Amino acid sequence: MADTETLKSYADIPVLDWDLQDPHTSSYDLFRDLRANTPLVKVPMGMGSMVLGLRASMVDDIVSPENTRQLETEMKMMQGIFDGPIFDFVAQVMLFANGDVHQRRRQPVARTFAFKLMEAMRPRAAAVAAEIINEHLGNGPFDYLHDFAAQIPARIIADILGIPRADLPVFLKWISDTAESIGFVNLERRADIEKSLTEFNAYVDKLLADRRANPRGDFLSDYVAATAASGDMSEAEIRAQVVGLILAGSDTTRNSMCMSLHQLLQHPDQWKALCADPDGLKRQASEEGLRFEPVVSGIPRVTIKDLEIEGYLIPAGAVLMVSILSVLRDPAVYAEPEAFNIHRTDQQRWHLAFGAGAHRCAGEALARVELEETLAAVARLAPNTRIVGAAPQLRPGAIRTVDQMQVEFLA
Ligand code: HEM
Repeated sequence: MADTETLKSYADIPVLDWDLQDPHTSSYDLFRDLRANTPLVKVPMGMGSMVLGLRASMVDDIVSPENTRQLETEMKMMQGIFDGPIFDFVAQVMLFANGDVHQRRRQPVARTFAFKLMEAMRPRAAAVAAEIINEHLGNGPFDYLHDFAAQIPARIIADILGIPRADLPVFLKWISDTAESIGFVNLERRADIEKSLTEFNAYVDKLLADRRANPRGDFLSDYVAATAASGDMSEAEIRAQVVGLILAGSDTTRNSMCMSLHQLLQHPDQWKALCADPDGLKRQASEEGLRFEPVVSGIPRVTIKDLEIEGYLIPAGAVLMVSILSVLRDPAVYAEPEAFNIHRTDQQRWHLAFGAGAHRCAGEALARVELEETLAAVARLAPNTRIVGAAPQLRPGAIRTVDQMQVEFLA
């Protein structure tokens, strides 16, 4: 540790004039230049500032529970949301909890939403993808974002939860209406979101009650049994983890699906390689898609003590965020980080696109199954795929969302 005398202070951290709505401020060129010159950058936000960590070397320090905690309901309070269904959801869900409360909420999910169950969904994910591809093959351009990428995670989680096919349309509508509860809420839509979230909650309550009464050896039956065994979760918490799984897995996966396909089509040699060997290369293609265009832009935390990072002293109570966008292109980890390359050999075992530390994504196994099987299915069944019209763009934000994507599967 450096002598406190030689440490630079919070005030010395360079300030970046960041406009969250300006797509250029999230550009990789900006991060490349910043990262080479400074490990940290300060971004003014409303009344305060957030410090972005730009280099891979600082990830562990930023997510360590010794140093920081997850933001809780203050995320919503900063938006002026102090009560109601969105606030209650955020107050009950594992993502925005710390310490024992986080453990209590995560454990029953970790035990039951398990790798083996997710792997067993592979054939189903491949079949749903094939069904949609065959509907559109040779039938002209279609909305890839909504009619394909959004469908896969929604239909797969519906299967895992045992949702009857007849309920699928309303289930899909609830997901699309309420997805933003987890991130930045458009306040003009708040009333609509909360109406849908209330209906969604009631539906999940019914599913839970059904499995308590008639356990059937599926994920939800195991999950309610695990929560009963631990005995320390409220009804609202039990339900919120299920709604949380559904919402955390929807926007993230569909946007990643779009951007990975887009990148592959931009690199015809790599697309050809995937089409020649879909099963052999689907994992590498999906991992590189996650690295090259991560859909979660950062891991925000609050310092719980004065913290020394890369020669700077950050005071307790500061908002500090690992910039996933920057770290996944850190040349200290990745050779030629600005190149999309599915053949790269330096992917990290714990891919940072899924976060790090105690809150690391609880759905990464499922996300991988969906991303890999979807890419493989398109490569296998529709190798003559092309983007129609404008290239998809990711809107800046905590979860980066694709603006649009029209695709044609040529026969
Ligand atoms: C490409 C797809 C996905 C990406 C990039 C992604 C990324 C992430 C990241 C970065 C975090 C950590 C956030 C933080 O620490 O502040 C996270 C947490 C989480 N994710 Fe994912 N995710 C994806 C898909 C999924 C899926 C499919 C599910 C479930 C069906 C899921 C469920 C969760 C849950 C429940 C958490 C909270 C974990 C906790 O707080 O302990 N995610 N995800």
